Amino acid sequence: MAQIGASTPGVGQVGHVRVEPSGVHFDVRPAESVIQAAWRAGFQWPTTCWGQAECGVCAMEILEGAEFLVPADKVEAARLRSLPRRDGGNRRLACQTRLTGGGNLTVRKPGVRLRAVEASPPSAS
Ligand code: FES
Repeated sequence: MAQIGASTPGVGQVGHVRVEPSGVHFDVRPAESVIQAAWRAGFQWPTTCWGQAECGVCAMEILEGAEFLVPADKVEAARLRSLPRRDGGNRRLACQTRLTGGGNLTVRKPGVRLRAVEASPPSAS
């Protein structure tokens, strides 16, 4: 699988996220959620509520690094309970999940990939 990633060492990084099965990876800055970090790094992450903990579409399975995560709050826990059980039980919402610092997180989330670059309109010359 191709390795596509974004990393800017020394810019307040608190952790690093690797996403399977795509193999993309990116840094997470302080106070950023996983989905915010992915968006900043130029990746598309499935969502329909754009980070409001309402759709559940951003849910990811935690494969490694759960010990580096801030525990789910009541809003996230309630949303997770409302989702159908399609994968392992160790799920979190990417829009609500933040890292405590210094850890590497590996998650499974199909559909995470580089955003398509918008085509520029042809110049009028
Ligand atoms: S983006 Fe909708 S619940 Fe996370």
